[in-house]
Amino acid sequence: SITACLFDLDGVLVDTAKYHYIAWKRLAGELGFDFTEQDNERLKGVSRMASLDILLEIGGMTLDEEAKLALAEKKNAWYVEYISKMDESEILPGALDFIQALKARGIKVALGSASKNAMLILNNTGLTPYFDAIIDGTKTSQAKPDPEVFTMGAHELGVQPDTCVVFEDAEAGIEAATRAGMRSVGIGSPETLGRASIVLSSLEEFTVDRLLEL
Ligand code: G6P
Ligand code: MG
Repeated sequence: SITACLFDLDGVLVDTAKYHYIAWKRLAGELGFDFTEQDNERLKGVSRMASLDILLEIGGMTLDEEAKLALAEKKNAWYVEYISKMDESEILPGALDFIQALKARGIKVALGSASKNAMLILNNTGLTPYFDAIIDGTKTSQAKPDPEVFTMGAHELGVQPDTCVVFEDAEAGIEAATRAGMRSVGIGSPETLGRASIVLSSLEEFTVDRLLEL
């Protein structure tokens, strides 16, 4: 049986993946190299500093820790500027309906995000009250694909991992779910998310009845 659903935030509940992309692309531009949407796939679900390392690798650059921290801060300031203007209209299609349907059926709902900006996004979009547990980048020490974020979520909800389903748009997130002993629903393309239990293009086409068949 299924007792809980754990949701990634960026790219699953809200379309912030585009803001991360715009901010990283702006940084790459300042550093003098191009950063494509395909490059951006490698950053999804990956922590801020690990994302910067991948970006610098793409640009063929090596920097010391101090310079890297300054760049990460710069990217984050741009990103925060973008997400500060968000409201409930940026909740992805089907996400809120699905979460409400889960709650109506007594299934618990948790957030499992690597982002340190998760609370700002949840508050701006009005999503905060729907969560029974919120695990974000301020609480975890290990980045996805490490299972920590989802294991902590199940623990805080007081449920067994094998009764949880994770919703993710990132390959690293699907792997984290698998390593946590959970089923997973990929939101995006089967090419990158093929290891999920099922892949959807959005939550709009999903129902609690289909979830219970997983
Ligand atoms: C999510 C996103 C990543 C982002 C990470 C950290 O997992 O998918 O693209 O790098 O969160 O977000 P933050 O808001 O803390 O920089
Ligand atoms: Mg994501």
